[in-house]
Amino acid sequence: TKPSEVTPAILMKSYACQRRTPLKHHNSVLTDALEILALNAEFTKNEGRSVAFRRAASVLKALPRGVRTMDDLKDLPCLGEHSLRVIKEILDAGTSSEVEWTRQSEQFQAMKALTGVFGVGVRTADRWFREGLRNHLDLIHKSQKLNRAQEAGVQYYNDLNTPVTKKEAMVITVIVEKAVNDVLPGAIITLTGGFRRGKEVGHDVDFLITHPDEGAEEKLMPKIVNWLEDQGLLLYQKTTRNSYLENKDGPARPACNMDRFERCFSIFKLERSKLDSDTRIEDSSYNSGVTDGTQTHSGSTWRAVRVDLVVSPYSQFAFATLGWTGSKLFERELRRWAGQEKGMSLSSHALYDSKQQRYLPANSEEEIFTLLGLEYIPPSERNA
Ligand code: CTP
Ligand code: MN
Ligand code: MN
Ligand code: MN
Repeated sequence: TKPSEVTPAILMKSYACQRRTPLKHHNSVLTDALEILALNAEFTKNEGRSVAFRRAASVLKALPRGVRTMDDLKDLPCLGEHSLRVIKEILDAGTSSEVEWTRQSEQFQAMKALTGVFGVGVRTADRWFREGLRNHLDLIHKSQKLNRAQEAGVQYYNDLNTPVTKKEAMVITVIVEKAVNDVLPGAIITLTGGFRRGKEVGHDVDFLITHPDEGAEEKLMPKIVNWLEDQGLLLYQKTTRNSYLENKDGPARPACNMDRFERCFSIFKLERSKLDSDTRIEDSSYNSGVTDGTQTHSGSTWRAVRVDLVVSPYSQFAFATLGWTGSKLFERELRRWAGQEKGMSLSSHALYDSKQQRYLPANSEEEIFTLLGLEYIPPSERNA
């Protein structure tokens, strides 16, 4: 072949944290398919398989153009034999039989519906599926025993499964800023999660809170929660206190991905009038109609929105920001890079260098990337 006929090879790094992954990309048909298989692997507790499919999908998200032939995939990392087979089928026939079969299977649909209830994880959903439950309505009709989170999950099912818009996230940001600055002036509030990565919608709104005076942030969450509750803004909340210093193995225990910050998983009551004062609904008889145990939300003056609040000490703020911005795969890949390539252990609290046997402090995300020997990737390109 003459050089002009050769498609220039794409240099694709193998860790997602080494690559730029924009929100909008050119291969959604393929990545949607692979992510169905990833989700199904999660539902059947096959973590390894799930991550393999997610890594494959993530590589396709980082490509500068749409994949048209199998040749376009030459030399790309993370594409296993199974993922390649699925991609080939879609390129040849438009769909993959395995993906379509999975999508329509009773188990997949039930697991998707049941894990779609706030407070329900894969283990619980799987048990309920084997007991014959199929969706959130079965939880009411078969009078299933539910914990407080799941009760709220069923009650606000429709709202919580309606994507949160950027506009709603901004209104909630204003409320959270007011609450936090009222109880601790000078506190810093950062919007993290998907909205920081530039997403237009999300399943919740995530905030990280800190204060420049180390220690001033201690026991802050109960004060914020009280403020919000006094204003009637919370439909549900579960606060967990900071357990970081209780960990005798020292911070950043490598095996534990779950961070130990003071945090609050909550459901906000968001007044719709706050979103658009022109379309204010004055009729207070709305919200009274309850039919099947779930909230009827058409015409309601308010809606339920999931909000995550996390408080971090100032010295850990950079690590917490990086850890709470996501995406989940990007985070996982950062930790894998740190461990496998650098002999370091990264958490949302700290970075530990095993060779030097010491913690490496950092004041910004940029510094953490540098300490890890990585090129800085801005939040908008962490959509791995
Ligand atoms: N996270 C975490 N510990 C948890 C839950 C979440 O560290 N127990 C982190 C995740 O790693 C992620 C970030 O918090 O980086 C946001 O998580 P989440 O809200 O679940 O996902 P988003 O990326 O914000 O996507 P969505 O729009 O669906 O909310
Ligand atoms: Mn396989
Ligand atoms: Mn989120
Ligand atoms: Mn969240």
